[in-house]
Amino acid sequence: MATRVGAPVVEARELEGEVRLQGLTRRFGEVVALQDVALRIAPREVVAVVGPSGCGKSTLLELVCGLQEPSDGTVHAGRAVLMPQRDLLLPWLDARDNAALPLRLAGTNKSDARAQAHALLTELGLDGFEASRTWELSGGMRQRVAVARTLLSGAPILCLDEPFGALDAITRADAQTWLSAILHRTPRTVLLVTHDVEEAAVLADRVLVLSPRPGRIVADLAVDLPRTATGRDPTDARVVAVRARALEALRGAMA
Ligand SMILES: Nc1ncnc2c1ncn2[C@@H]1O[C@H](COP(=O)(O)OP(=O)(O)O)[C@@H](O)[C@H]1O
Ligand SMILES: [Mg+2]
Repeated sequence: MATRVGAPVVEARELEGEVRLQGLTRRFGEVVALQDVALRIAPREVVAVVGPSGCGKSTLLELVCGLQEPSDGTVHAGRAVLMPQRDLLLPWLDARDNAALPLRLAGTNKSDARAQAHALLTELGLDGFEASRTWELSGGMRQRVAVARTLLSGAPILCLDEPFGALDAITRADAQTWLSAILHRTPRTVLLVTHDVEEAAVLADRVLVLSPRPGRIVADLAVDLPRTATGRDPTDARVVAVRARALEALRGAMA
């Protein structure tokens, strides 16, 4: 088949990065996890999702990735991959082969897959650690490998479920910086679940606040400040304002 170069191809690629949810409800027996969620995410938008424990955040990501079926409503999304809450690195593979796994599964030969993984790990500050086993790596390093694996899936939509939740404050700030850098260089649509409203305001273009179960969107807050290659300054007044509004919406929803 002939390949056409130009606008139509670009347009098709952009549509792949879009997410549209309408009337989305997910029940587990009697439990309503998510209720009537409507949402449109544009290609390359970074959207943070915050909300109390059990409000359906992980369920939302699994629905977007097609790992669960809606009880009601619809999900339209391009190919989306999930980086789950538990890190699923394989202990019998080194860092590079863990990162390269989606390329290998897609049929890329071993040396090309390893070269791509090595380049990305280097960019993520892991040069020299590519042959390390996962248990030899710190928590922050493991998350770099897990993010590298997620990026190498090539999916236009990344669903990251509390990626930095287990990291200490310094490592976490560092992780926000390298994630900002990699998204600056290779933009993707991102749905990022976090329990940290500051992290949400630092990393995302929009912050969605969910109510306690059944999870509904109670606030959709735009961060009126461009993302940068190093992440936003958490002390910038506009970041602080979004953080405050997200907290207020959370408190309001829980009252
Ligand atoms: N497979 C399942 N079977 C039954 N209940 C589930 C299942 N998955 C999630 N739930 C319930 O749905 C609700 C939302 O879960 P989850 O999406 O994991 O919340 P969050 O990620 O916001 O903490 C919770 O009450 C949870 O117990
Ligand atoms: Mg969860």
